[in-house]
Amino acid sequence: MKFLRQAFATAAIVTLILGFGGSVLASDKKCAECHEDDETSLPIGKTRHGTNADSRAPTCTACHGPSEAHIKASSKFKPDRNFGKKSSTPVQDRNLVCLNCHDRDTQQTQWAGSTHDTRDLACTTCHTVHNGHDKVRDKKAQSEVCFSCHKEQRTQISKASHHPVAEGKMACSSCHNVHGSVGPKLMKRDSVVETCYSCHMEKRGPFVHSHEPVDDDCSNCHNPHGTTAENLLKVRAPFLCQSCHTPHASIVPSLAGQAPASGAAGWNSSSVLQGKACVNCHTQIHGSNTPSSQFLLR
Ligand code: HEC
Ligand code: HEC
Ligand code: HEC
Ligand code: HEC
Ligand code: HEC
Ligand code: HEC
Ligand code: HEC
Ligand code: HEC
Ligand code: HEC
Ligand code: HEC
Repeated sequence: MKFLRQAFATAAIVTLILGFGGSVLASDKKCAECHEDDETSLPIGKTRHGTNADSRAPTCTACHGPSEAHIKASSKFKPDRNFGKKSSTPVQDRNLVCLNCHDRDTQQTQWAGSTHDTRDLACTTCHTVHNGHDKVRDKKAQSEVCFSCHKEQRTQISKASHHPVAEGKMACSSCHNVHGSVGPKLMKRDSVVETCYSCHMEKRGPFVHSHEPVDDDCSNCHNPHGTTAENLLKVRAPFLCQSCHTPHASIVPSLAGQAPASGAAGWNSSSVLQGKACVNCHTQIHGSNTPSSQFLLR
């Protein structure tokens, strides 16, 4: 956290207690004169930004600017910086306000140049600061904010197999850091696999025999948001496997104990296509620790 920049320092030091529930924000006496009973701006006094005891907390003018013109003729001029839907302040200027204090927070260090930055999202596209309830930081309500732009994920997350996001047990931010990331697709960790391991530790290995696409990227086979196929699989086995492997033309006779020989009863192309198909035999699809099981059989 970068503490108060010079520009904000003077305003913040003043701690006149006026309205706003005794919050430090009341230091902006001039704003309070007219906005004291303002039902939309008032609740900020109950948020972290309005915490009296925190000398790092912003004042009205730290975010909105000194706004001399607005004070003199409030119906004619907006404050220097305004954030609403019809904001007249350029996005980058709005974001600078927040980043002045937040660009050293561990979560925000990768913001510059991130996907959302380059698509001109404002911090306040997602965050509301006056309202005590910042939807996007509420596990249950968060996805609604994202879905206003990400319709495809809305559809996926409601499919039969899905991570429990709609149930409120997880949020998009369980896997993504929307403020930027060194990993792909705004992953919370440095890669897709590292992000998945954070909850599915048993898939990490190391295994005696690993399966290349698993170590590479879980989303080779899984769609993390949701699928019609079981287990979040993009397509079910055997079709999934066949997108990379040619199905057994034959099984080596010496392995008859494990698998029926080609052409024998029980082993033909249709038996491979049934049920869980390939994973009936190749049960250790994520990696095997049995030295003799290089074929991920057990
Ligand atoms: C003389 C009274 C007065 C003072 C002083 C005043 N305001 Fe306002 N402010 C208003 C009024 C009235 C509106 C609504 C204007 C409108 O709806 O067109 C308003 C609107 C606003 C808005 C919404 C702008 C928008 O449309 O997006 C913000 C933000 C704001 N004021 C912040 C401040 C800040 C910060 C200060 C102190 C620096 C301040 N005001 C001082 C009267 C005042
Ligand atoms: C942390 C930065 C920040 C601080 C501090 C801040 N504001 Fe705001 N203000 C915003 C943002 C962002 C919005 C847009 C709506 C929102 O996010 O809640 C806004 C919106 C407003 C509005 C318009 C509300 C509406 O109807 O859209 C008014 C009026 C306002 N602020 C006044 C104030 C006053 C008065 C203070 C001091 C008590 C203050 N603001 C402190 C960032 C801030
Ligand atoms: C003058 C410094 C300052 C400015 C400007 C500022 N913040 Fe903050 N913000 C803080 C402090 C201090 C906290 C309390 C966090 C802490 O304890 O580490 C905070 C907390 C937050 C939190 C977490 C709130 C919580 O309840 O935990 C969010 C979200 C946030 N700020 C967003 C913003 C956004 C968006 C803007 C720009 C509109 C902004 N901030 C502008 C200083 C600032
Ligand atoms: C795409 C939506 C989105 C945008 C844009 C966004 N945020 Fe956030 N922000 C979130 C979400 C989601 C969380 C909650 C993350 C979590 O729970 O791990 C969050 C959390 C935070 C927090 C609290 C972090 C903490 O440690 O609890 C701060 C501070 C913050 N954001 C600041 C910012 C600033 C500054 C910007 C602009 C540079 C910004 N955000 C832009 C969605 C967004
Ligand atoms: C205002 C619209 C908007 C909102 C709200 C929004 N995003 Fe985005 N997001 C975008 C745009 C634009 C892109 C660029 C790719 C695209 O066009 O889909 C993007 C890309 C992404 C990407 C892919 C990143 C990459 O590098 O390819 C992820 C992941 C993402 N957003 C997650 C989220 C999450 C999680 C939330 C909610 C906390 C959220 N977004 C909210 C507009 C938005
Ligand atoms: C279990 C982890 C996880 C959760 C939870 C999650 N995502 Fe993702 N998301 C990923 C992974 C991994 C990728 C990259 C692989 C892919 O696109 O399938 C991704 C990709 C994305 C993309 C980029 C898609 C593209 O085609 O470029 C967007 C947008 C996105 N996620 C939004 C969201 C939203 C919105 C939520 C919450 C509803 C969410 N994600 C929840 C793991 C997750
Ligand atoms: C924040 C923790 C968390 C992260 C990160 C996470 N998961 Fe999960 N995963 C869960 C939970 C919780 C379940 C549901 C378990 C249940 O319902 O019993 C689950 C279930 C699954 C399932 C089984 C789904 C089913 O239908 O039974 C698969 C497959 C899966 N996750 C893959 C992934 C992949 C791939 C990633 C990385 C992109 C990932 N997970 C990241 C928590 C997580
Ligand atoms: C080569 C395709 C493939 C890749 C890549 C893959 N999986 Fe799977 N995964 C499967 C299949 C097939 C199943 C269903 C297994 C079954 O039906 O017995 C499954 C099931 C799961 C399950 C639920 C059942 C269980 O075993 O716990 C989780 C969780 C899971 N995978 C996590 C992951 C994670 C994490 C990664 C990345 C490290 C990953 N998977 C990569 C094919 C894959
Ligand atoms: C994204 C591509 C991809 C998918 C999907 C995939 N695999 Fe693989 N698989 C590979 C690669 C690459 C290797 C290692 C290279 C090799 O030996 O052919 C491998 C190796 C194997 C091996 C060990 C082969 C050996 O000679 O050591 C088995 C068995 C196997 N896969 C079974 C499956 C099954 C069953 C599925 C479906 C659940 C599946 N694979 C899905 C790419 C894939
Ligand atoms: C009835 C059990 C069984 C089923 C079903 C099965 N396999 Fe196998 N698979 C084996 C056995 C046993 C071996 C070892 C054969 C050997 O030593 O050559 C093997 C070997 C492999 C190999 C490595 C050798 C090679 O031929 O490249 C791959 C890849 C493979 N299987 C993929 C699949 C795929 C894909 C499916 C589903 C379409 C599947 N298997 C279904 C038992 C099975």
